[in-house]
Amino acid sequence: MLNFEFQNPTKIIFRRDQISKIAAEIPQGARVMMLYGGGSIKTNGIYEQVSKALAGFEVVEFGGIPANPEYEILLDALQVIKAESIDFMLAVGGGSVIDGVKFLSAAALYDGDEPWNILKNSVRTFKGLPFGTVLTIPATGSEMNSGAVITRKATQEKLSMGGPGLFPVFSILDPQVIASIPKRQLANGITDAFTHVLEQYMTYPTEAFLQDRFAESIMQTLIEIAPRVMNNPGDYEAAANFMWSCTMALNGLIQKGVPTDWAVHAIGHELTALFGIDHARTLSVIAPSHYRFNFEAKKAKLAQYAERVWGLEKDDTDSLANAAIEKTEAFFHSLEIDTKLSAYTDQFEGTAEKIEQRFQERGWLGLGEHKSLSPADVKQIVTMSY
Ligand code: NZQ
Ligand code: ZN
Repeated sequence: MLNFEFQNPTKIIFRRDQISKIAAEIPQGARVMMLYGGGSIKTNGIYEQVSKALAGFEVVEFGGIPANPEYEILLDALQVIKAESIDFMLAVGGGSVIDGVKFLSAAALYDGDEPWNILKNSVRTFKGLPFGTVLTIPATGSEMNSGAVITRKATQEKLSMGGPGLFPVFSILDPQVIASIPKRQLANGITDAFTHVLEQYMTYPTEAFLQDRFAESIMQTLIEIAPRVMNNPGDYEAAANFMWSCTMALNGLIQKGVPTDWAVHAIGHELTALFGIDHARTLSVIAPSHYRFNFEAKKAKLAQYAERVWGLEKDDTDSLANAAIEKTEAFFHSLEIDTKLSAYTDQFEGTAEKIEQRFQERGWLGLGEHKSLSPADVKQIVTMSY
């Protein structure tokens, strides 16, 4: 039933050549910390553009936030924020840098001794240190949502956090940044955004007609632009549609008034924590098994997706639903993404039991749209994905 509240305070500036306009979005006189990743911005011109745009501010830089932002490294940044009395942060990067900055936004104003507890105890952040973003890679939607996922190598954990205080104040979306993204990361971005839509759509039918069509149209757009972006990331029109699809896939809009699943992400995060597999690839490993395991509960929606997104025609729901799962796998394969865990690691034996145990210990006893998937079910899904 459509019944919801929706607020998204992030200002999106979506246009080419907008990086130079950042200064107008940051409070005058702010002490700014500019944070970035492993260095791609130093070779594709984004660093120069941002530095030039920040010329009127006192700026402290913090580079080296790795993919799957690492807690220990973020603690170093937190010290600098406190020592330098930073009052505004600018994340220049993808989901990893933006999520790292969201963690810092929460941690900077957190009262407790151990900021990891924000993640461990699911502490919601209602007020954070303000920050903006310059998005360099479309994928996560982090540029327009209030969630973050942080990794702790020492304990092989990857946990989520969030809260209404963690929306970026603004995000600059210039599709020209996509031109320098390597193929592997383009494929990751398409797969991640596609799966975000699936998590909010592949449940059971409700009378949310517009929500369904929002979701279907994002998936159709991603399918349409995928070969163009993969073959030529400098194709501006394709890149722009790719970028906007990723943002819209996870900015809160399509989940309003409908059931959501998110089991694929919950399980996938464990595969990144255990093996360091790229986030998107863990989703492509888990999603097909998840849909096969929950076939009866999801087949009506799988069949709708087969017809509306893939244009398939078959006599009965079961055939359509099965074909939908196969089409999804084939789509991931078309992006050169493997959909079996054994393609990523030889050490896969025992993974299912490990994840089952972790979920049990954390009290994650009911996943999915019906909150009915037990740790034992999760074990089976992971085993099916070997
Ligand atoms: O670190 P640098 O050198 O900048 O290189 C990055 C990185 O290696 C590179 N890259 C980014 N922009 C580029 C570029 N290379 C060339 N040209 C550019 N313009 O791409 C690599 C991947 O970057 P990353 O930020 O890790 O990618 P992504 O945006 O896919 O973020 C993944 C992270 O976000 C989390 C994931 O778990 C993972 O930690 N997620 C965040 C979500 C959220 N906040 O809502 C939801 C997602 O489901 C996801 O969990
Ligand atoms: Zn994701």
